[in-house]
Amino acid sequence: MLAVMDDWWAGFGGADGSRQRALLLPRLFFQHFTDTSVLAEHADGGIAAFLVGFLSSSQPGTAYVHFVGVDPGLRRRGVAAGLYQRFFTLAATRGARRVRCVTSPGNAVSLAFHTGIGFRVDPGDLTMDGVAAQRDYDGPGLHRVTFTRALPGPRG
Ligand SMILES: CC(C)(COP(=O)(O)OP(=O)(O)OC[C@H]1O[C@@H](n2cnc3c(N)ncnc32)[C@H](O)[C@@H]1OP(=O)(O)O)[C@@H](O)C(=O)NCCC(=O)NCCS
Repeated sequence: MLAVMDDWWAGFGGADGSRQRALLLPRLFFQHFTDTSVLAEHADGGIAAFLVGFLSSSQPGTAYVHFVGVDPGLRRRGVAAGLYQRFFTLAATRGARRVRCVTSPGNAVSLAFHTGIGFRVDPGDLTMDGVAAQRDYDGPGLHRVTFTRALPGPRG
């Protein structure tokens, strides 16, 4: 997965961005969150898309999407929306009432995607590219845009 990330993110954030992304996928995600995550493959075994998500263990009712990516050759065909929909259904079945996720300010495609599938940007303490962001969210200088989307209750 690490092998495709720079290509899929089009080098977003330069060398720093590349290092940060690589650190976002340590092995623990492929050991402890496999039942709520998805990896889709091409017929030749290459990676086509992935979604790494989980149910919060400390915030009952909250699910979290940690990372998502789709092969550039498959974009704008509803692949990521489908992976999220599957995750929403699974999370709701397990009692989640909301889904949260985070992206980097300036990742316009991620912003368009998340708002396009019903996420709202949470209030922030600074504005970057016209979008509310949270200062130093992931460490000094690592500002983030955070999103929340409500899930339907048990009766939809
Ligand atoms: C963000 C990403 C996962 C979207 O995947 P995708 O499969 O192309 O998205 P979908 O086709 O399901 O798009 C669903 C909706 O999101 C919005 N959207 C998605 N990509 C968009 C774009 N480039 N510009 C504007 N809106 C976009 C649209 O509303 C779209 O619906 P529509 O096509 O009917 O208009 C993909 O672009 C990607 O892998 N980007 C690089 C990695 C990344 O930034 N990941 C997110 C941060 S961790």
